[in-house]
Amino acid sequence: MLWSLLWAVSSVAVAAPVHLRHEERPIDAEPPMPPVADDADEVMRRGAELFRVASCIGCHSPPFSDAEHLGGGRDLPTVFGVFWAPNISPDPATGIGGWTEEDFERALRRGRAPDGRRYWPTFPTMAYTRMSDDDVHALWVYVSSQPAVQTEERPHQVRFPYSLPGMRSLWRGLHFRRGPLPEAPERSEDWMRGRYLVHAVAYCDQCHTPRGPTGGLRERHLLAGGANPAKGDVHPNLTPDLAFGLGTWTVDDIAHYLATGTRPDGTVTDSENIMGEKIRDGYAHLSVEDRRAIGVYLTSLPTDDFDPSGLVAPGGRARAR
Ligand code: HEC
Ligand code: HEC
Repeated sequence: MLWSLLWAVSSVAVAAPVHLRHEERPIDAEPPMPPVADDADEVMRRGAELFRVASCIGCHSPPFSDAEHLGGGRDLPTVFGVFWAPNISPDPATGIGGWTEEDFERALRRGRAPDGRRYWPTFPTMAYTRMSDDDVHALWVYVSSQPAVQTEERPHQVRFPYSLPGMRSLWRGLHFRRGPLPEAPERSEDWMRGRYLVHAVAYCDQCHTPRGPTGGLRERHLLAGGANPAKGDVHPNLTPDLAFGLGTWTVDDIAHYLATGTRPDGTVTDSENIMGEKIRDGYAHLSVEDRRAIGVYLTSLPTDDFDPSGLVAPGGRARAR
């Protein structure tokens, strides 16, 4: 009971940004994020880019025709309830208008609200905890300078017994590890940059790694593929394994896929798929150097012949392992 409960809690991290089968709101628009002003400075531009690449956009400015920039409102159905991405605009009543930069940093990197409440792992702070000071600052500069919007508060509908307060602390104790990423002085700058984007910003690892019985990533199969239990989706193996991974994909193939969704064999991931949405609204906005850096990092991974399709049993439920 306890394990399955924990597993359910942590599976939110994977299930969260995904279009679930029972979700009633299809992607029907471009995200409501306005273009960055021509005279915006470097920090503001970086903040806007991070807002896309770190997927803040998908949850807090979602591609629905009735969404407002920073107004949140993405419904995130999970096995233990439905979560709603909140308003993070500078509105003092319904957004985070009363917040300081320290409050923002604590939310992103420690997963804690100003009142000390721990956030649900639907908000991927287990990745953001590894973000650099500069990037957290750029996000704050960007988010806090956007127009305030008022929205109706939509409380999470957490099912009993998952609603018990101790559950988040339990999950955190097991799986939340404070950043930053460890030093790797023997590696190239591109590799370091790629690793940072994959594990701190774009949280590729959270989807593309299998999870253990208590919901933590199985480090032994890091980036060797995962699954979305609620949707029955398989997240492919990204190691260079010839049978199950990216195989012969080059650094440029990976960079091209992250910009266009087009694989080396010409097939395309479109924006109806969660990966396609992330490419369109996020990764395509990275510089070519950053997309190549992700390629440098992924092609350096040890090959792993893990087959993630084995994680999804017929009927779409992930097999308990
Ligand atoms: C997968 C969806 C998702 C993504 C991606 C995401 N968030 Fe959130 N965010 C949430 C949810 C859900 C909550 C509420 C969590 C809770 O109540 O425990 C939240 C809470 C927050 C809060 C706290 C709001 C409050 O009123 O306490 C801030 C600030 C925030 N997110 C900013 C960001 C930023 C900045 C990014 C990108 C770096 C981001 N979020 C990415 C879903 C997401
Ligand atoms: C929310 C979960 C999620 C996140 C986050 C995510 N992916 Fe994916 N990814 C998927 C899914 C689902 C697919 C399968 C897409 C399809 O069926 O076309 C996929 C497909 C891919 C593929 C194509 C592999 C193949 O064999 O066809 C690559 C490469 C890839 N992702 C790399 C990344 C990288 C790099 C990141 C981070 C920058 C990332 N993904 C982040 C869910 C995710």
